[in-house]
Amino acid sequence: MAGLIPQSFIDDLLHRTDIVEVIDKRVSLKKQGNNHTACCPFHEEKTPSFSVNQDRQFYYCFGCGAGGNAIGFIMNFDQASFPQAVENLAKDAGLEIPYQESEAQAKKNSQNGLLIEALESANKFYQSQIRHHNNRAAAISYLKGRGLTGKIAQEFGLGYAPPGWANLLTSIGTDGKQQRILLKAGLIIEKPQNKTQTKNQSQTAEQQYYDRFRDRIMFPIRDSRGRTVAFGGRVLSDEKPKYLNSPETPVFRKGSELYGLYESKKSGEKHDKLILVEGYMDVIALAQMEIRNAVATLGTATNSTHLTRMFRQVPEVIFCFDGDKAGNAAAWRALENTLPLMEDGRQVKFLFLPAGADPDTHVRSIGKEAFLGEVNSATPLEDFFFNKLTQDLDIGSIEGKARLSNLAKKYIQKIPTGIYAKLMLNRLADLLGVSVDSLDQLFNGKPLLDSTRSNSVLESLNDKNIINNLSSAGGNRQGFIGKAEELKGYRKPASLKAIELLLRNPEIALSITKDLKPLHAAEDEGRKLLVALIEMVRNNPKTDTFSMLGYCYATKLGGRLTKLLDSEKITPVEGLEKEFLQIIDNILSDVTQKLELVRLKTELRQKVYPHSRNSI
Ligand code: CTP
Ligand code: MN
Repeated sequence: MAGLIPQSFIDDLLHRTDIVEVIDKRVSLKKQGNNHTACCPFHEEKTPSFSVNQDRQFYYCFGCGAGGNAIGFIMNFDQASFPQAVENLAKDAGLEIPYQESEAQAKKNSQNGLLIEALESANKFYQSQIRHHNNRAAAISYLKGRGLTGKIAQEFGLGYAPPGWANLLTSIGTDGKQQRILLKAGLIIEKPQNKTQTKNQSQTAEQQYYDRFRDRIMFPIRDSRGRTVAFGGRVLSDEKPKYLNSPETPVFRKGSELYGLYESKKSGEKHDKLILVEGYMDVIALAQMEIRNAVATLGTATNSTHLTRMFRQVPEVIFCFDGDKAGNAAAWRALENTLPLMEDGRQVKFLFLPAGADPDTHVRSIGKEAFLGEVNSATPLEDFFFNKLTQDLDIGSIEGKARLSNLAKKYIQKIPTGIYAKLMLNRLADLLGVSVDSLDQLFNGKPLLDSTRSNSVLESLNDKNIINNLSSAGGNRQGFIGKAEELKGYRKPASLKAIELLLRNPEIALSITKDLKPLHAAEDEGRKLLVALIEMVRNNPKTDTFSMLGYCYATKLGGRLTKLLDSEKITPVEGLEKEFLQIIDNILSDVTQKLELVRLKTELRQKVYPHSRNSI
């Protein structure tokens, strides 16, 4: 263990680590809305003031001011050094640290590194076969027939496993050790008789093993860093099985990978939503049609690992399903898995395709723009939920109402405490024609609202009519909370708002063109801090949220800021930089006006009392 740990690795590690899990292993956490709370492990206390925010992957104690990310927590709690804390997290994530000086060495020594190397060699092999093998015309014409250009095929690294039992085996499995690695990587299979027979040194590789993938189009499955961890292989005909996939290996967990996520990130486009489809070919066909934000699970149902990974990237996920019965059932299963993850600010919608169509055929038949239109007007989770629950009920009848409330109850209770749960409850109350309060009682007292969060906003939501009007007008919770804030006149100082925007997006500090000198005279705590943070980013454009927060905690505003970051209002990404610059402008003109006023007063005073030294 020696050398530097690359920053990119630390970023990746933090990305794969969930601070809630890390802390919960050491201190038992209680979920409260977006936060998880506990009595602080770093100071003595009887009531919990320690809180962990999952979205921001950050912990903070209102009592003693301790705060930081997952690495910082382990350093403090386990009394570990920085490298020890990283080692510890990496081990949990099943990652090998690529120490910078001895990267090649560390990789060679680690088994996972060897598997990845073998998979990468196989990837190169399959890709070279699609260019050089005698049978390449069949593979290429298959892909062309599916409407793919060479460019997209290359971006997704498509290859060809030629017919025959030992192509990969003999070209990569050059010795016993290599063959065992290929076996472990799931690329070759051991012949049954070889398993039972006592090993015979004189046996050739071909007598012991055979290639798993033969005469198939190969789809490399890459992890979020772009390393090939497995393959899917498709037949070129209608033979069965249509797809053959790598088995689970130490570097491939089928249930947690998302096909296309790496390629989407690599496309360089910024997306605020991901479209979840079912197949490899759907992801690729959408990419071919310039829709670069589709991902697929690998033939498994969508689970919470998939969803958590997607919500780490974007606030909105669109599930794409067949419009037929099976698609509907699959959508409902996905909905069930999604409810526990429906924290405020997240959105899930369902796009049902015409029966018999999949995203691949559908996007080709209606085109990119129409497809995107359908994505944008997909059914929100809440609509799908209530439509489905009420479809076979007569909710005009008492019996129907009783059934609906029973059915809905168990689902709504799965939603994390917060505004989304409250909205669902309101909608149910509406359908049942009862008050939310009596529903609350019906749901045996489980608080659907966390009383510590954003009460000022929520109080104004109590009027059901307002909610209905707003939600039907916008259909969008964020806009609707913003509206509620306006109605309520809920405001915070502009400087704090600017700090909040800056903390979330440090880079916006770099877009200020105005001279900030007048602000240096500011006495207001918020403005002082705002200038300090802007300078921080200007001096080091790599400054991140965590280092800024670290700075903030040392100021008088520390505690207040943490609360602020927890508040509900989330500014839509597009308007963010503009809003930030507008606030800076306002503050600047306010300061300039005040300075001008002071100057005028001083001037006046000096005219009236020329001998006085004091200003007013
Ligand atoms: N799948 C699989 N094994 C199969 C069939 C399907 O692993 N025998 C998985 C694959 O990940 C596949 C996904 O389930 O991509 C969805 O299946 P399907 O819709 O049939 O595949 P498509 O990607 O649409 O493939 P194609 O259009 O080539 O038929
Ligand atoms: Mn298909």
